[in-house]
Formats: sequence, C-alpha cells, structure tokens
Amino acid sequence: MRTAILASGRGSNLQALIEACQNGSLPIEIVAVGSDQLETGALKRAEAAGIPTRVFLVRDYPHRQAQEEDLLIWMRENRVELLLLAGYMRVLGSEFIRQANFPVVNIHPSLLPAFPGLHAQRQAVEYGVKVSGCTVHLVDEGLDSGPIILQEAVPVLPGDTEESLAQRILVVEHRIYPEAVRLLVLGKVERTGRRVQILQKEGLA
Ligand code: GAR
Repeated sequence: MRTAILASGRGSNLQALIEACQNGSLPIEIVAVGSDQLETGALKRAEAAGIPTRVFLVRDYPHRQAQEEDLLIWMRENRVELLLLAGYMRVLGSEFIRQANFPVVNIHPSLLPAFPGLHAQRQAVEYGVKVSGCTVHLVDEGLDSGPIILQEAVPVLPGDTEESLAQRILVVEHRIYPEAVRLLVLGKVERTGRRVQILQKEGLA
C-alpha cells in the first residue's frame, strides 16, 4: 500500500515504521515523507532510507488551507493510499480530512480521550494520573478524537517528569504504531461507527 508519512520533529516513530517495512513485518511502501519544518530528524531519517522528502512550510503559503491543498496535491501525485502522522504537530483541517480519499492514522502519547492536544505527557504528569500510555487512531475532523485502533497503558511512576514518562511511552509507541498499521492494511480492522474491532491478532509478536 502506497503510504505517505508526515512528521514535524525527531522522527523516531517514522524510524520504527521504516524498520518494520525493512524487516518485512509491515506490508506498506513508504513512498514519501513530508514535514512542516526544515531540517528535522524525520527528514534526515527518511533521506537515509532513500525515501523522497518534501517540506511544506506554512509561512510559504498565504494561509494554512493553502498548505493543506498542496499536501493533497503531493499525495495525489504520489498516488498515496494511506497517510500516517508520526509526530506531525499540526491539526489537519476538516477540508483536508473530507478530501482525503484514503485513511489517515495518528499516534498520540496518551490514553485518549484523556489528554488530547499538545504536551500530552506533561498533562498526564501534572494531572497526577497513575497510568497513561499511547493510542493509535484514525484521524477525523476533531482534535485527537477519531476511532481508536490500538492502545497500550504505561505506568506513571513516582518522580516521573514529562521527559521520563515520554521516554517510557515512546518505547511502546514504536511497537504499537507498526502493529496497528499492519492490522489496518491486512484488513483486520473493522469499523462500526466510531468503534473499531480487531478481527484477528494471531501471528503478531
Ligand atoms: C511522539 O511521542 C508522538 O506520539 C507525539 O509526538 C512524538 C513524536 O516523536 N505526537 C503527538 O503528540 C501528536 N499530538 P517522534 O518525532 O520521535 O516520532
């Protein structure tokens, strides 16, 4: 399945997806990586893997919607069938979601619907929850509100900081993001309204 990935930063989830493709556990072809930032770790990782990259700086466009229209053109040019957000720190507008005729998937570092938006790990530490985690979900027109494919809990330990919790969650993100995408592309994700059922999980590590 021809897949594009959008990432704004370091790109460790992008790297996990690239490696899952390389080791044969994730049957997608990453055909393009885009970023809304210059010179990010994500772009460097994509280039190292030989994947074409493009930067879409919002300041180069008259307004945000124009940037998203360009993203859609780029995806059509690349015949994209699946879009993965891997630390893409912008909310895609509802017009983009309406026009995207392919699934859009995101990973978020909390157990949604708790702590949507920015700094989810900081929100969790400040709230004082004892358990947080991460969520892979389909993107809809809301903020981190789409149907949930997979979630996994991660303990919040006494003395945790935003950084230490983020690091513990990240290890799990790198495992469940490729796993969720694999289930989706193998047709094992059945959606009824906003509820997603995983049909089979055998064969997964
Ligand atoms: C990850 O923790 C991801 O879940 C989070 O940004 C980080 C990106 O790290 N995404 C969001 O917060 C989206 N709202 P990475 O660039 O190393 O993959």
